[in-house]
Amino acid sequence: MAPAPRRHLLQIQGMERPEIDALLDLAESYVLLNRTGKTPRDLLRGRTLINLFFEDSTRTRTSFELAGKRLGADVLNMSVSTSSVNKGETLLDTAATLNAMHCDLLVVRHDQSGAPHLLAQKVEASVVNAGDGTHEHPTQALLDALTIRRRRGRIEGLTVAICGDIMHSRVARSNIHLLTGMGASVRLVGPPTLLPSAIERLGVTVFHDMAAGLAGVDVVMMLRLQKERMAKGLVPSAREFFRFYGLDEAKLALAAPHALVMHPGPMNRGVEIASDVADDPIRSVIREQVEMGVAVRMAVLDRLTRAALGNA
Ligand code: CP
Repeated sequence: MAPAPRRHLLQIQGMERPEIDALLDLAESYVLLNRTGKTPRDLLRGRTLINLFFEDSTRTRTSFELAGKRLGADVLNMSVSTSSVNKGETLLDTAATLNAMHCDLLVVRHDQSGAPHLLAQKVEASVVNAGDGTHEHPTQALLDALTIRRRRGRIEGLTVAICGDIMHSRVARSNIHLLTGMGASVRLVGPPTLLPSAIERLGVTVFHDMAAGLAGVDVVMMLRLQKERMAKGLVPSAREFFRFYGLDEAKLALAAPHALVMHPGPMNRGVEIASDVADDPIRSVIREQVEMGVAVRMAVLDRLTRAALGNA
């Protein structure tokens, strides 16, 4: 049975495989349309999308903006730093104000886990979670899945190592839910201080040693060391971290010869990944991830808008 149309995209956890497959298939069609410049610019005509980002972003905000514009929406980027949030306006009052302007799609990034879920209960617009605290970043996991599927032809049966600062990573959480749900084996590799306790309950295998964790894997997904969310003392120094957990040519050689190198960005070069690996034209798909981000976000906006109109 086809999954019921979804009004909001708040998390990967709980999404069924057919729904993810359908979104990836739709995103695939947008990859081709983007490359040929033939995007359906009337699909979201008359719709308004507001990007409401309480945390910094380059990739996610600009790709939602591009995605909305390529589908014909009116797109507003609300500058939180110059908004009335600075005068003490609450998140809910801000959302109520935007709601009163009849926006159709609200793309929200917030440092508090659960903030987009709260907004989704209060506004009429469809809410898309663009990253909430350490909880989830669903469109990042979808674009990662699309990148892997295009390169490897499938997700099921692959072994993916997610490495580094798992503790503070919403990207890791969304990817764990998506990849395990799609039949991949997921390894988490990092120091004990950067791995949440009992994370094995999510169906992953934990490694504290890169040599063991990377042995034979199909995909190496590196994560940014999130210093802004980190208590002091979790990592001795960036140099030490790179020595033991940074991806360089020697560590990558332990993975399968065809292994893909991924990173959601922004990268700390020389901390979690060496520049020659990040820029390796054969192994690294980091730029491709960015391209897939636009296509995935177009697919998400397309789906949510059709669901809101009742013709999903
Ligand atoms: N991957 C990611 O979310 O990047 P930005 O913080 O630049 O949006």
